[in-house]
Amino acid sequence: MKSLAVRGTKLHYVDRGQGRPVLFVHGFPLDHTMWAEQIDAISQQCRVIAPDLRGFGRSGKGDRSNFPERPEGCCAQIGPVPFSAPMDQFADDLAALLDALGIIEPVVYCGLSMGGYIAFQFWRKYAERLRGLVLCDTRSAADSPEAAAARHVMADRVLKEGPRPLVEMMLPRLFGETTRQERPEVVEGLRRVMMANSPRGIAAAALGMAARPDMTAALKEIRCPTLVVVGEDDVISPPTEMRGIAQAIPGARFVEIPAAGHMSPLENPAAVNTAIVEFLAML
Ligand code: MLT
Repeated sequence: MKSLAVRGTKLHYVDRGQGRPVLFVHGFPLDHTMWAEQIDAISQQCRVIAPDLRGFGRSGKGDRSNFPERPEGCCAQIGPVPFSAPMDQFADDLAALLDALGIIEPVVYCGLSMGGYIAFQFWRKYAERLRGLVLCDTRSAADSPEAAAARHVMADRVLKEGPRPLVEMMLPRLFGETTRQERPEVVEGLRRVMMANSPRGIAAAALGMAARPDMTAALKEIRCPTLVVVGEDDVISPPTEMRGIAQAIPGARFVEIPAAGHMSPLENPAAVNTAIVEFLAML
């Protein structure tokens, strides 16, 4: 893994292969290792960049300067956690990372779930830097007020108790039945990744997600080639909802991944890789 100083933090990233740049952006609260199978496969034909986002994995872990507390009385807060990581700031980090790597040609951006929320902000701010978009198991809708409030409560708990309560709540919902029954080691591997993340990074991103805008009305404006991928058993961003996203984006392809839930790239990597390779071949 390499690292670069970017916008006041240090981002760690994998940079492998040559050719057309493909950027893989992980979900919450994970790190770049969720893309291990995609990094291996896609780097055979492309230059793959897979960062740990600010506050996750090895990037800025445990560093207070990544998400500094706001001074008392500054900025109204809904909940008790006085800092957050808005999705567009992650997008700014990614654009700055590409700059620092000297990648000026447009990239194929592939994001899962929170990585997809960030993808919409990357598109909004840096559309000219996109050659293609791969949206995996993600949502265009904003959080409901109840869901946003629950994230605030959970962020507060994680700061006090560590990642465990969040991991216990999320882990059972991340995987499809097939993975849970037949590959428990994959579930346990992800548990370790989630538990190793910093409470501060988790809390900041949770609040950033709670405040993310609803991008549904903007989907029809997306002009870059887009692939929408979803695990058939995804209960967090279900296939019906993701099919709607694909239908709203002009010309988007839609691929449903068998024997997979929300973590489709980990659960059925062969099918996800085939979908991505076929999409890349079309560009
Ligand atoms: C993710 O996988 O990134 C999360 O499920 C996103 C979320 O909590 O909305």
